[in-house]
Amino acid sequence: MEKPSKIAPAKGKLGVLLPGIGAVSTTFMAGVELVRKGKSQPVGSLTQMGTIRLGKRTDARSPLIKKFVPLAELTDLTFGGWDIFKDNAYQSAANAGVLNPQDLEKVKPFLSTIKPMKAAFDHDFVKLIDGPNIKKGKNKYELALQIKDDIANFRKTSRASRLVTCWCGSTETFVKPEEVHSTPEKFIEAMKSNHPAIAPSMLYAWASVTSGVPFANGAPNLTVDIPAIQKLAHDHNVPICGKDFKTGQTLMKTILAPGFKARMLGLEGWFSTNILGNRDGEVLEDPGSFKTKEESKLSVLEYILQPDLYPQLYGKMCHKVRINYYPPRGDNKEGWDNIDIFGWLGYPMQIKVDFLCRDSILAAPLVLDLVLFLDLAQRAGMRGIQEWLSFYFKSPMTAPGLYPEHDLFIQSMKLKNTLRWMKGEDLITHLGQEYYD
Ligand SMILES: NC(=O)c1ccc[n+]([C@@H]2O[C@H](COP(=O)([O-])OP(=O)(O)OC[C@H]3O[C@@H](n4cnc5c(N)ncnc54)[C@H](O)[C@@H]3O)[C@@H](O)[C@H]2O)c1
Repeated sequence: MEKPSKIAPAKGKLGVLLPGIGAVSTTFMAGVELVRKGKSQPVGSLTQMGTIRLGKRTDARSPLIKKFVPLAELTDLTFGGWDIFKDNAYQSAANAGVLNPQDLEKVKPFLSTIKPMKAAFDHDFVKLIDGPNIKKGKNKYELALQIKDDIANFRKTSRASRLVTCWCGSTETFVKPEEVHSTPEKFIEAMKSNHPAIAPSMLYAWASVTSGVPFANGAPNLTVDIPAIQKLAHDHNVPICGKDFKTGQTLMKTILAPGFKARMLGLEGWFSTNILGNRDGEVLEDPGSFKTKEESKLSVLEYILQPDLYPQLYGKMCHKVRINYYPPRGDNKEGWDNIDIFGWLGYPMQIKVDFLCRDSILAAPLVLDLVLFLDLAQRAGMRGIQEWLSFYFKSPMTAPGLYPEHDLFIQSMKLKNTLRWMKGEDLITHLGQEYYD
């Protein structure tokens, strides 16, 4: 890909479209509004709080990322979305119970204006919930065209100059890539014939990409991770990325595992279990949705530890992940990890991690960063899979034949180097020999 010669300025409003107005999306929108009102801080957001070192360490140039690249301002964001329930974003946020009533009250008038459009939904893909706010159509193609109309209407009524979509809907049942996902033509035929391998999230993805709107996938669903949508993203100059926000337990894994590997410490086993009680947890009680999530969570260690390169250290590791729906916990998940490692001469040791985290509090800033970076990428003329945004995902999308990079520190370096490359700054290799010449 060629380096962008010029990045178009972030002029006008940026419309954020969210399929799924649940815990994550309402926590994200409420948070943006609280920050805009000066009532809170955007903690966890790289675009808002992060800096980037430029040039030599002795140059002392470390601007804020948002000053270095032209990102949309928070005041320019405007929101819309879809859900199978009719609750407005305030009601949905109150129901999710992530933010306390005092914080929610401060943004009630704003959130109450965000009313979900009718969803393209198929109960076969999310078995444990059902709702009344659902589109009707002869086939999946008709539903996708209705989403396109929604996008066009939102563009008009919100007066946004640019749009970005971020899937924050439920985890759908496991779907394998099939022939119908291989080309845009076959994909359209499959939508028309109501093929069972076309999931609702794919209809939103198709509608967004063919409307020229970048798409991020926050769930582990296949969605944009298929050749048909990737080809369309190229043809329509649309950046896409996914999948599955990297928060909680997997974030911890991709922080710890690179450390074990860097020190050549062995790993015999890693047992992870979670209890959570939000709607996401309820949906994951269904074995189909759980399988989608499990695949996404399990792949991380294999790629980071490379057992084929280090058979003595990682060849026999046993990795298990469990998720238990436990309503009393609400959105405040508890993730336990028991890690069996071994050191010098094979002597065993154990590490226990007990992360009492808040799922949506960890996910909300990722939605913000992804929206702002995808918009930046589009203005810089970048299209197709944005591997530099792997930093945000449990199962990063890559070009065919490439293995995904899961190590959080490599991902962070890749992201920042991409920003430097976009702006024509020297990439930072961390070699540092020049300081000793
Ligand atoms: N919170 C995290 O840390 C985290 C991390 C990784 C991935 N995720 C994923 O993000 C997604 C959102 O999580 P959440 O906690 O907000 O879940 P949630 O259940 O609170 O919200 C999801 C919403 O999507 C709606 N929905 C389902 N199918 C839809 C469709 N076809 N069209 C429109 N709306 C639809 C549901 O009605 C629900 O309101 C989930 O897929 C979850 O697995 C969350």
